[in-house]
Amino acid sequence: MSQLLIACDHGAWSLKDELVKHLRDKRGLEVGDLGVNGPDSVDYPAFAAELCRRIGRGEAQRGILLCGTGLGMSMAANRFKGIRAALCHDEFTARMSRQHNDANVLVIGGRVTGPGLAIAMIDVWLAEPFEGGRHQRRIDALDTLGPI
Ligand code: RB5
Repeated sequence: MSQLLIACDHGAWSLKDELVKHLRDKRGLEVGDLGVNGPDSVDYPAFAAELCRRIGRGEAQRGILLCGTGLGMSMAANRFKGIRAALCHDEFTARMSRQHNDANVLVIGGRVTGPGLAIAMIDVWLAEPFEGGRHQRRIDALDTLGPI
């Protein structure tokens, strides 16, 4: 089982490669890299779905999704019950996504966030615990929200 899964579309593949290198070489983490591995255009929902389904099957507890803005990947991932995907732009939102939202997927925009900040956000996001308490009630309520 990978400790962490990561996937991207063509809007963030070079950032993804840098992040995988950091996580494996500097952090010593086991990272499951689900692609994409080049600049050719792909459709982000398929990559989000693959990562979310693997988390749903228990193959990993956490994942990182990247696309150009992070918007498409976060929209896709949050269609899956049990996935709490947080599109973050700084260390504060990355920290709060763990403390208050127990985010199990971190989403970053490869055309928005540079590698240095992305690494700092991931380091915070991996370390920060969920606070539970009233926040548990709120995230439980997320899974009761049905179709419109
Ligand atoms: C691809 O051009 C771009 O639309 C995608 O990476 C993402 O930003 C979508 O939300």
